[in-house]
Amino acid sequence: MPTQTPMPHISEPAVRLVVASQTEHQKSLELNSVMWRGPLTMDQYTHREAMVIQDLTPERYTSWILTNGKDVVENGNHPESEYPNKRILSGCQSMRRTMFVGHNGKVREVGADMLTSVFTPSECRGKGYAARMLSELTDRMVNGKAGRYPLGITHPDISILYSDIGPKYYAKMGWPAHEAKHIKISVPSLSSPQAATNGVSISDKSHYRNGNGALDIDIDLPRVRILTEDEIPELVAADCVATRRNLESASQADPGAYLVTHVPSMDLLRYFWIREHCASSELYKERGHFDRGAIVTGPGYSEPGQRVWCYWSRTWAGRDSATNPKGNVMYILRIVTEAQPSFLHDQITKDTMPEFAKYARAIAALVRATQQEAQGCNLESIHLWNPHQLAQEGVRMVDSQAVVENRTDSSIPSLKWLPDLRNGKTKDVNNQAHSRVVWVQNDKLGWC
Ligand SMILES: CC(C)(COP(=O)(O)OP(=O)(O)OC[C@H]1O[C@@H](n2cnc3c(N)ncnc32)[C@H](O)[C@@H]1OP(=O)(O)O)[C@@H](O)C(=O)NCCC(=O)NCCS
Repeated sequence: MPTQTPMPHISEPAVRLVVASQTEHQKSLELNSVMWRGPLTMDQYTHREAMVIQDLTPERYTSWILTNGKDVVENGNHPESEYPNKRILSGCQSMRRTMFVGHNGKVREVGADMLTSVFTPSECRGKGYAARMLSELTDRMVNGKAGRYPLGITHPDISILYSDIGPKYYAKMGWPAHEAKHIKISVPSLSSPQAATNGVSISDKSHYRNGNGALDIDIDLPRVRILTEDEIPELVAADCVATRRNLESASQADPGAYLVTHVPSMDLLRYFWIREHCASSELYKERGHFDRGAIVTGPGYSEPGQRVWCYWSRTWAGRDSATNPKGNVMYILRIVTEAQPSFLHDQITKDTMPEFAKYARAIAALVRATQQEAQGCNLESIHLWNPHQLAQEGVRMVDSQAVVENRTDSSIPSLKWLPDLRNGKTKDVNNQAHSRVVWVQNDKLGWC
């Protein structure tokens, strides 16, 4: 066993943030695999991460380490042998994306740095290494030295991460937590009457919440069909247009605020589908191809501008996932109502009620289709992140017991607004001078 040098203090000049070499990146993966490889073997985990990087293109992905290595050449190619005492004190990865920002009725696409897999080896914890790494990374982002972005953007305006250690640590570091809810939908067992519907072409008549001032909607669920691979790029483009439009009007209605949301791009979808493919080929070998989502069909839903659809991604919890559904989850990554009706966020009025009911039925039909798909893949439950009231109504039409849960420990969306730091404003996000940033339509699609 080589003798390790003592752990350096964070203030030592030798302690610095560098881009990991290939070997160091692999070492980082080995270290953090205890947290994030789940039921995959180390080889399978390495393969999955490599597939993601390859799809993102390496320029948009950086593996960072805080290290005590001296005089490191920051091109990631320095020979390991020159730094025998160098160690990984902490590590993380960043992925460069873009997000939409709406402000006073105008929408821009800005650079967004997403941080993942923040990890300090157990023997190095509690010495401020992760804090130092995040602080140096912030400086690089503020100064535009954390890498290149799409669309020629040089400086990111946003950094996001999904905290698995509650909201406090990252808030203290300048990434305050945002809404972290999801609605959990049951998957009816194969023997239940609800499961008897045939395929995903569903038409069902029943009554929804009558009496006592509650909504009184006659449920005649529209039909839905599975998305084809060919149509997805066009739907994604339509979603981007609708999202921009929605952000324009929402930011007009909330003057002064910065409303931010994911650009719902193919990149984000591919991230999930690559991971799904890698996991399913190891843990769930029953099927080679998985459907990507479903779309509502029929009168009132078929023309561009009226369409309603959703995307899916499945996760399997164990090596026995094909026979044991425990912990296997179907995520509805995003539900798109192309019309972006105003009542998505406003109170429903008598005038908007018929349209509300129409779209709630559409969402109910998609949820029913999702339940059937989840049954077919041996999944235990379905999650939909941060559902607006229309989505909640749609869900409850097919699962009256569905509950909204608040995540307090894991996958908590956390966002740092970089322009304030660039403009010399305080790092304290509670300070009055700080911009008001609201993360809207924050669905699972943006997670990583
Ligand atoms: C979280 C982690 C990266 C912190 O690394 P570190 O180098 O020890 O961090 P620092 O020394 O800068 O800060 C230590 C702080 O982290 C907090 N922390 C560590 N684990 C935590 C947890 N599970 N929940 C809440 N806070 C936690 C400590 O309480 C301590 O807080 P304090 O500064 O108020 O005393 C490290 O504990 C780790 O790798 N944990 C396992 C992987 C993980 O959960 N990563 C976070 C993914 S979002």
